[in-house]
Amino acid sequence: MPKILVTHQLPGERIHQLPDHCDMNVWMGPGLLPASGLRDELVGCDGLLCLLTDRIDEALLDANPSLRFIASMSVGVDHIDLAAATARGIPVGNTPGVLVETTADASFALLLAAARRLVEADRFVRGGHWRSENAWSPEFFTGKDVAGATLGIVGLGEVGQAVARRAAGFGMKVIAWNRSPREVPGVEAVELDELMAQSDFVSINVALGEETRNLIDARRLGLMKRDAVLVNTARGGIVDEVALADALSHDRLAAAGLDVFEREPVPEDHPLLSLPNVVATPHIGSATLSTRAKMADMAAQNMLAALSGKQMPNCANPEVYS
Ligand code: GLV
Ligand code: GLV
Repeated sequence: MPKILVTHQLPGERIHQLPDHCDMNVWMGPGLLPASGLRDELVGCDGLLCLLTDRIDEALLDANPSLRFIASMSVGVDHIDLAAATARGIPVGNTPGVLVETTADASFALLLAAARRLVEADRFVRGGHWRSENAWSPEFFTGKDVAGATLGIVGLGEVGQAVARRAAGFGMKVIAWNRSPREVPGVEAVELDELMAQSDFVSINVALGEETRNLIDARRLGLMKRDAVLVNTARGGIVDEVALADALSHDRLAAAGLDVFEREPVPEDHPLLSLPNVVATPHIGSATLSTRAKMADMAAQNMLAALSGKQMPNCANPEVYS
């Protein structure tokens, strides 16, 4: 029987079908499988079912020549050296589609929370600061209007388009930039610099890769309106975090809603976390029970296909099959 390693206990139903087809070793915790544990547990395995927190680099692939297929329970595969996997003929499965609406909801939740200072206001109430000497006033927690504002979407893939649909309902004007220009009704295609300059809200919905690493750098952040809001549910590495913290702390940007960070977990002393105008969440864009179960089922489905010698139904490097 082929041997596979599953780096975390997974939700969903399909994972329970795997033991009929392989010798399955599941990391039971506590917490995440550390990198050293991954190195040890992967020895002799034919397959790996992993999470976005597992780093699969070339050295790990070299140390495990028996590895023939990888399925990740994520749509993003930036944690895996895809070129190295492809060079070794290893298909890398991912989970597109099922998390689109859930992640778009998360983008909008962050957009609204940042615009209306919800988290800051919540802390204020809970902290016991809402007293008569700190009373309601006309300018109390004033934020930014969403209706009528311009939303710039960076990356008009499935999630970007789902964000655009929500924006239409909120009465926003939507502009977007995509690496290969895409025509989407109701969305005006613009150059990235123009998008940064015109938007009241910028939502990052592009995958992380060589072309998008540090895409939103200090210069592009500098093009934004002073009262603009940046939202990122894609990957932290797309934005220059030092430049972002600098802009937010010097009134060159109004607020940010961030679900992803360059380093995760984000260090406690990260400059962004000391700013009141940052809403931060721990990479939970696709975190609903139903979506996570669907993602796990899709990852297990990819693994089942690989185990029976078939093409993975959702593969990030399908060229390995040709
Ligand atoms: C989430 O970030 C994913 O890539 O699935
Ligand atoms: C707001 O609560 C208002 O009554 O204007």
